[in-house]
Amino acid sequence: MSQQPEENNDAIADYVRRAEHNTARVPSIPEGIAFSPIKTAAVIGAGTMGSGIATNFLNAGVSVTLVDTNSEALSRGLATIERNLQGAVKRGLITEELAGQRRALVKGAPRIEDVSGVEIVIEAIFENLALKRQVFEQLGRHTASSTILATNTSTLDLNEIVAASGRPEKGVGLHFFSPAHVMKLLEIVRGRETSSETVAACLDLAHRMRKTGVVVGVGFGFVGNKMLLDGYFREVELMLLEGCSPADIDRAMTSFGFAMGPCAVSDMAGVDIAYLIRKELFQKETRPDPYLVVSDALGELGRNGMKSQKGFYRYDPSDRTPHPDAEVDALCEKLAADRGIMRRTFTEEEIVERCVLQLVNIGIQLIDGGLAARPSDIDAIWLNGYGFPRRRGGPMYYADDLGLPKVLERIETYHSRIGEVWRPSPLLKRLVGERRDLNSLNIA
Ligand SMILES: NC(=O)c1ccc[n+]([C@@H]2O[C@H](COP(=O)([O-])OP(=O)(O)OC[C@H]3O[C@@H](n4cnc5c(N)ncnc54)[C@H](O)[C@@H]3O)[C@@H](O)[C@H]2O)c1
Repeated sequence: MSQQPEENNDAIADYVRRAEHNTARVPSIPEGIAFSPIKTAAVIGAGTMGSGIATNFLNAGVSVTLVDTNSEALSRGLATIERNLQGAVKRGLITEELAGQRRALVKGAPRIEDVSGVEIVIEAIFENLALKRQVFEQLGRHTASSTILATNTSTLDLNEIVAASGRPEKGVGLHFFSPAHVMKLLEIVRGRETSSETVAACLDLAHRMRKTGVVVGVGFGFVGNKMLLDGYFREVELMLLEGCSPADIDRAMTSFGFAMGPCAVSDMAGVDIAYLIRKELFQKETRPDPYLVVSDALGELGRNGMKSQKGFYRYDPSDRTPHPDAEVDALCEKLAADRGIMRRTFTEEEIVERCVLQLVNIGIQLIDGGLAARPSDIDAIWLNGYGFPRRRGGPMYYADDLGLPKVLERIETYHSRIGEVWRPSPLLKRLVGERRDLNSLNIA
């Protein structure tokens, strides 16, 4: 795939700036809409995400009540917030005095009833629909009718969760990424009945948290994780069956500009996490085989990644260096043989092309389906949440740079060679037919 020439760098930097700026200008929300800026908040669930989300509120000068029904979890969550503040002081990001002011804005509480006076509640409890609905039903009773009720769910149906509150117009998804106090991306998920005022207040909140807030629609994985799982990771796993090793793929994607390759990322995040997400997914919808079958097999073997010293790679104790593992190669060979898939060698160019063009094709489908408002929003998501190389402008910019006729021609080639998962998106065909590029859809 093409290398961007040096002289393009300024144009790309300018595009990225505009893409990130324009996420706050949502076509479906009237400019200048009146909303109440949020000054008080509560977070339900003091775990990994809840403590990071609460830290963001403090950084934005918003007072926050952190609630957990488990008193040990609550103490741990408050201690994590304290560590986050001290870490910021140590790195010279804030003064000790500012840390003190922020510390004074947080308090812990054991019951949902304790959040009655706040302007926004973000729920970050276990990923379980019945439990989340129970919390939203309680929130509907114990908060004011003006309170925004948000969920940090990553896989469950937002509409079903917020309906339990009886106030779906105030219900919204705020999809933070881990670590929540560090990652720049915030997907703001607009439900069927979410009001424009609610979305506007969340966009303002994202800005005050110094995050790139991008409004997306409801669907599996929203925008970022849909492209990650059904596009990028599925293609990676297919290539593992077709003859690539994890190291081949990671090497190709890091040469393209990602800080880490997909297999190393999975090992770091925990192979089991995605395995559990898939179990949940398959209760509602299916995917044609082979879909992340290597990860499934690793999950079944308890090869959960770095934390178990085995995943796509092998790790020595207390060392994060990934080492190729012949057991994984043998596993991939077996999974391929079971499916009659021939193994061969790949060039780096082909690996990159298949990963990136899957992102492009699914991204265009999401625009066509209304889950993403425009291509530049998708680029903002992939640059801020998934480490897509900035110097490439994002997957949608990159597709325009290659030229959509070439993109379509390559996708059609893979469609005839590999099958349905490569069917070109109808919007891509339309754009090529009209001699337009993706940028022509970037209405501000
Ligand atoms: N971990 C991630 O990388 C990540 C990323 C994005 C979104 N999410 C989503 O964020 C949510 C939280 O994930 P996590 O990893 O922080 O979970 P976690 O297990 O670390 O924390 C969940 C906390 O919720 C508390 N809790 C459970 N039921 C409760 C209730 N009824 N009332 C009050 N507190 C309750 C638990 O005691 C626990 O401390 C999930 O919906 C998850 O899908 C997680």
